[in-house]
Amino acid sequence: MLDQFKKSKKYFKKTPNLENYEKTYREFSWKNVSESELTWFDNGKVNAAYNAIDRHLDSPRKNKIALYYEGPNGEQEKYTFEEMSQKSNKFGNFLKALGVKRGDRVFIFLPRNPYLYIAFLGILKIGAIAGTLFSAFQEQALYDRLENSGAKVLITDKEFAVRVEKIRHKLPNLKHLVLIDDESSLKEINDSSAELHIDRMNPEDYAFMLYTSGTTGKPKGVVHRHLAILSEHITAKYVLDFHEEDTYWCTADPGWVTGIAYEILGSWSNGVASVVYGGRFDASKWYEILEKYKVSVWYTAPTAVRMLMAQGIDLVRKYNLSSLRHILSVGEPLNPEAIRWGLQAFGLPFHDTWWQTETGAIVIANYPCLDIKIGSMGKPFPGITAGIVDDQGKELPPGQEGNIALKPGWPSMMKTIWRRPEKYKSYFLNDWYISGDRGLKDKDGYFWFIGRADDVIKTSGERVGPFEVESALVEHPSVVEAGVIGKPDSLRGEIIKAFVVLTKKYQDKVQDKNYSDQLKQELSLQVRKHLAGHAYPREIEFMDKLPKTRSGKIMRRILKAKEMGLPIGDTSTLEEF
Ligand code: WTA
Repeated sequence: MLDQFKKSKKYFKKTPNLENYEKTYREFSWKNVSESELTWFDNGKVNAAYNAIDRHLDSPRKNKIALYYEGPNGEQEKYTFEEMSQKSNKFGNFLKALGVKRGDRVFIFLPRNPYLYIAFLGILKIGAIAGTLFSAFQEQALYDRLENSGAKVLITDKEFAVRVEKIRHKLPNLKHLVLIDDESSLKEINDSSAELHIDRMNPEDYAFMLYTSGTTGKPKGVVHRHLAILSEHITAKYVLDFHEEDTYWCTADPGWVTGIAYEILGSWSNGVASVVYGGRFDASKWYEILEKYKVSVWYTAPTAVRMLMAQGIDLVRKYNLSSLRHILSVGEPLNPEAIRWGLQAFGLPFHDTWWQTETGAIVIANYPCLDIKIGSMGKPFPGITAGIVDDQGKELPPGQEGNIALKPGWPSMMKTIWRRPEKYKSYFLNDWYISGDRGLKDKDGYFWFIGRADDVIKTSGERVGPFEVESALVEHPSVVEAGVIGKPDSLRGEIIKAFVVLTKKYQDKVQDKNYSDQLKQELSLQVRKHLAGHAYPREIEFMDKLPKTRSGKIMRRILKAKEMGLPIGDTSTLEEF
């Protein structure tokens, strides 16, 4: 069994940007890289969007392609850095004319198309706060996010706007819906001036926010500052290892943090040419994209790798993927089989990276210059102190399982949780940032992921809070209560499973197997329609009652143990079950 991938000299097609991990880790200082890697305005002011795009206009990168876009129907467009700059300037001016001011929240609800990227940059340029919404979101998910953020403007298109129109009357702060496929809006955007004074921001000023799920309650708005681009830039340089000639493809959606940090900010700040594919997953299409655009650096997710695996190795062989030189993954555990398959299929190992919406950038990773211990997430990024701590925040020695924790203070550590300062504080313990993941560190300093410490679900790499799914289920007239867990799944990492208690009337009705199947389908659809197209339970089980604490909290941990046939552990706080 292959448990280490050793990199011989001939492995390297390029000298890695990070040549010596130990030395760089030892000598690294955020202050130094902030001076050498970012472009600053006078008086310590900065703008993340300027650093991503506009600063390249003084160099030959001006005419380099920044974005290759391929749409779901094969449409192709491309934009140079100069064009991205001008288009986002126009967008900034257009928003100003709408009355958008510094600090206003402007949200984007679009499928992956060039306007998503242009709008995002335009928002940051005028000092407003950009929020992104995943295209699978439905009414409830949209409402929760738009309401909590108090968004003033929503950038969307005619098709997606239908979902928003239904909730608009409940969103008094939402003043404008901009439809980017509406003739008159497009004309206004295009007629706006391409000259824009880019706002000089304090490094601490808010730049963008993303809603993410925890165990309890509604999703929380994780807010990042302009300075986050420093972490995003330098991690992109050292981990994604961008070189001037690279063509890069990140398969994430900017509705999630990966798409913002490494499809907009950190990647473009390195001046790399990026491919954006707006269509759905399809193995042949993905290989075609890799081949056609001669992708050299590819950042994807374990579920996608497993979906490619499922299509077999013969399919890969039909394509010329010789441009690939560096491949990486994020979002969920990268299983050793996927790495082995990657080696067979592409002759390259996937480099696992670990981070979160809250960390804003990669914090633990496998680096081009280091051998890979297969199954490990790698080592802390320079400038990051990572440790394993117990529940009191005391650091544990190598080999012991505990909470994966980080010393606060790196540039892309979340700045706040929108309007929930207490929630923000709850992440910190004894001067550690507690990630919510459990793991261990081995004697060589490599980190290994064990699981979540809470009930957060990762399905196809996407983060889903059980509470949101439970709330959507109990809206259905048949449901008294519901408990939702992530059930291990060989393809998707986890699938959502719901345990549902029905009203007496429905309990009788589901004695009929046909009716029971029909109701399960209806409940899945209910979640899909109200919450999100990706966050619905693929499995539903009807129960007489759910395990609860004496104070009435549903114990998902027990449901999960039961589902997996594991011992149910400490039940001293459990009501009779
Ligand atoms: C999980 C995604 C195992 C983890 C950038 C984390 C991982 C959560 C890995 C954050 C990995 C991310 N191995 N698990 N390499 N990377 N995770 O906020 O549970 O969507 O806490 O950010 O994904 O998910 P989020």
